[in-house]
Formats: sequence, structure tokens, C-alpha cells
Amino acid sequence: MTTTPAAPSALATTRGDRTPAWAALGGHYEAHGRAFDLREAFARDPGRVAALSFEAPEVFADLSKNLVDIATLHFLAELARESGVEALRDAMFAGAPINSTENRAVLHTALRAPPGEAPFSAQVHAVLEAMLEFAETARARADAAPPARLRHVVNIGIGGSDLGPQMAVRALAAFAHPGLTFHFVANVDGDDIASVLARVAPDETLFLIASKTFTTQETLANAATAKAWFLANGGTRIDEHFVAATSNVDAAARFGITRTFGFWDWVGGRYSLWSAIGLPIAIAIGAARFRELLAGAHAMDRHFAQAPIEANLPLLLGLVDVWYRNFHRFASRCIAPYAQSLQRLPAYLQQLEMESNGKRVDRNGAALPFATSPVVWGEPGTNAQHAYFQMLHQGSDVVPVEFILVREASASAGGDEGVAEALARQHRMLLANGLAQAQALMAGRVAAEPHRSFPGNRPSTTLLLERLEPRSLGALIALYEHRVFTSGAVWGIDSFDQWGVELGKGLGNALLARLEAATDAPALATIDPSTAALLARIRGG
Ligand code: F6P
Repeated sequence: MTTTPAAPSALATTRGDRTPAWAALGGHYEAHGRAFDLREAFARDPGRVAALSFEAPEVFADLSKNLVDIATLHFLAELARESGVEALRDAMFAGAPINSTENRAVLHTALRAPPGEAPFSAQVHAVLEAMLEFAETARARADAAPPARLRHVVNIGIGGSDLGPQMAVRALAAFAHPGLTFHFVANVDGDDIASVLARVAPDETLFLIASKTFTTQETLANAATAKAWFLANGGTRIDEHFVAATSNVDAAARFGITRTFGFWDWVGGRYSLWSAIGLPIAIAIGAARFRELLAGAHAMDRHFAQAPIEANLPLLLGLVDVWYRNFHRFASRCIAPYAQSLQRLPAYLQQLEMESNGKRVDRNGAALPFATSPVVWGEPGTNAQHAYFQMLHQGSDVVPVEFILVREASASAGGDEGVAEALARQHRMLLANGLAQAQALMAGRVAAEPHRSFPGNRPSTTLLLERLEPRSLGALIALYEHRVFTSGAVWGIDSFDQWGVELGKGLGNALLARLEAATDAPALATIDPSTAALLARIRGG
């Protein structure tokens, strides 16, 4: 039984555009922002790098290649104060129902807090212990002899029940149990599940059905197909080979799953990798390292909760996002992790940021007179350099880029010292490339021929991790979560609902019924001509 702490009588927040600081920022933009030149700023201020470099747990951030100076950050900090970002943050940590359109608390931070330090601690730690014990048992089975041996873990889930665990398992591959292969199935396209089923055998496979609601069409369809395949290929023990992570234990039981790890309505799907949804991560890296992941996130939570605005990295990054979106009017941001193992980070961040802040009304339902979530996109460097960096350097739009660098290499392969040195050199090449791209974007180049000229003055942020390991990954993800919180708080929107996914879901169900009906003649008349024509063509009518 969970109870939600009472709401504060009113959230002490003011929509950003209604604060004096917003108007002051507008003036600052006209006076110093519009014509800001990074090259001049560096020449003017030898202390710029030091003044715009920030330390947060596990993450060093160089903001000096952004179109800001200390004065801009002061104006932005004032905007945060006047908007009540800190009050909303404190309300979140305290468990107030700040997800106002769903009247829910927002407590993913409680999932990584030490015992007794956050709301619902007893329930959180009971599930955590049970889940980590199960993870260790699964890892032990990977070391067992056949037929007990476990070789494959198949996570079936979508959105937050896929992207977080998938991103983290991939990011932490260097720490994963070597005897286990992890598969992530999300798409309702049967090709996704079929291609995995073709590579696994029932007796050596564990299926994790991950769905907060246990009502999601894609996940239920894939789970049903997996179950049918399992039974048709000699599998008998659904109870041993199917496990669920869900807040809807009854629905999982109806599916035939007896072992369920629960979580709660105050964990948003895109904030759920710290909960039972993180089970594949725990199986991959083991209980101790999963705790390190949580500890890294918790360290960032404390930084976000306690550091003054001017030194608070998630807050500053969220405020710079507002500066770019609403004053410079940049429409997108590019994520460039210079780490192949972070290849799913951009996809993960797309859901985190765009599902959270892709809203056009404030929490009271009033239409917003300004833009909200940018388009977030990206690919790992250096691959991205050979695809779309052309546009970043010379295209007509300015796109702030986020470089994520990892100082120490983690790649290893069998062989001798020569192989190790070759890999070490590749890591130096990787870092040099990341640094060079940020430098080129900022510095630009004047050439006689226009098509060889680079305008420069293109902003970027560099986030530097010492090494990619559970603790630093936890801190990095929490940094992004709180940054998204910050811009959403300034914009006055509910960053924790996702009503925008509902309309298409409903229409999809109705169209499925039409695709499956014997005849669609009467129904065709009731939908728009374009969809009706496509439907008729697909039906072969
Ligand atoms: O459709 C959007 C969404 O609700 C996401 O917010 C969520 O992460 C995803 O679907 C999956 O939901 P569930 O975990 O309930 O299957």
C-alpha cells in the first residue's frame, strides 16, 4: 500500500515568462546575447574557462564554449529563483504530487536514496533487495552446467521499460557477466521478437516482461508471442523463465507470471531504470555494481538538492537550455557521446527530454507563448562526424552540441601488449576527435573560398567523465533528469505526464479492429479520406 504525501497548499512557482528576470534576460539578450562572439569572449577574459567550468559528482563540465558569460548565468540564476525552481525541486524530493495532471508524486530520487533517507524507503528497499537477490541467482545460473545453465536474457518492454535498461546494459558492457547475452525487444513489428527467438533456446533463456502498466500493446503482444514460442518449443516452466517488472501485479499474474518485482505510480516510465525495470542491468552487472549505479545517481541528487544555483550543474545546464530555446531560439540540441558504449544514450535522452518537456500548455492548461522542448538527437562520435557534422559546422542553423568524453579507455581485447597499446592509441584518437570538433565549431575558419569557410561561434558543452562505470553512469543520467526538470520548471509545465501519446494509441486500436474486420465498408465512411484510402489499399480493397 503506498500513500502519497499531501500536496503543499500551492506550489510556490511562477511561470518563467511572468518573472522580472525573464524580461531582464530579454534585455541582456538584445544587449549582449544576439551578437555574442565566443572568440572575442575568450580574448576578453583570460579567466573564462575557470569561471565557466563546474564540478559535480563524477562529472566535470566545461561550459565555456557556450554563448554565455558570468552575467548571463547570474540573470539565469535569478530566473530560476523567481520561477521557484528550488521550491518545486524541494517539493519533488519531499514527495508532493508535483505531477499535477495525474496527481502523483515524482520520486525516482527515492529509488536511489540510502535506507531511511527518502519517502517510501521501506518498500523501495524491500523490492531492491528481492530484485538484487534474484539477479545474483540468475548470474549464478549463468555459471551452472546445462541444463540449468542460463545464457540469454530477453527484456520485453518499450519506452522507459526498454530505453533505460538497454542504454545502461550497453554502456556497462565492460562490467557484464561474460556468459550472458542481453536482448531488448520493443517494437510491435514481429521482426523484432522473431529475430531474437531465432537465436535463443527455451531452457537457457529468461524473459523479463517490463511494463509499468502491463497494458502496453507492444509489450503484451511480444510477451504473448514469446510465451507461445516457449511452449511450442518444449518449454514448460513459465514460472521459471518469465519474470515481470510492473506496478500491475494482477495483470502479470493473469498472464501466468508468478514472480513479479513491483514499483509504484510515483515512478515515471522514463525515470524507471532505478526500479525493478532495472532488473536486466542488475543481472548484467550484479548487485554490488547496481548499488554503485544508484549511489552515483544519489550523489547527483544531493548535489542538485543542495548546491547553490550558481554551482549547481543540472540547474545551470537546464537554464542554459532555456537561454538557447527561448532567447536564441535554437530548435534542437545534438548529443555526441564520444564513447561507443553510450550509443543508446541519445535515444534514451530523446524520451527523457521530449516526452517530459514536449508540451504546449502550462500546468494550469494555459497555452504557452514560448517554445519548450528542443529536438534532441545524436549518435556517437566519431561516426557522427562522417554523417551530419557537416551541417553542424556549415549549415544554416545553429545547433548546440553536447560532447561527452571519457578520460580513461575501457575497451579491451585478447592479445598481447601490442593490441593493448593499439586500443590505447585509438582512445587517444577518440578524445582528440571530440576536442577537435568542439574547437572547430567554436573557432571556425576564414578561407578565401566561401565553401571552405567555417563561421565558428557555434556553441558546445563538454561533459567529461573520468571513466565509464556504474557510479559515473548513474550520476550522468541523474544529471540529465534534473536538467530536464529545471527547464520544465521554468516553463511551468508538468514534466511528468505524457498525454500526447494517448490519441494515437486509441486511433491505432480502432484501425486495428478495422484491419481485422471481415468488411470495412461502413467504417471507411467515418474516417478521413486519406486514412480511409490507405486502409482500403492495405486491406487490398
Ligand atoms: O506511451 C508512452 C509510455 O507510456 C511511456 O511513458 C512509457 O515509458 C512507455 O509507454 C511504456 O509503458 P509501460 O511501461 O507501462 O509498458
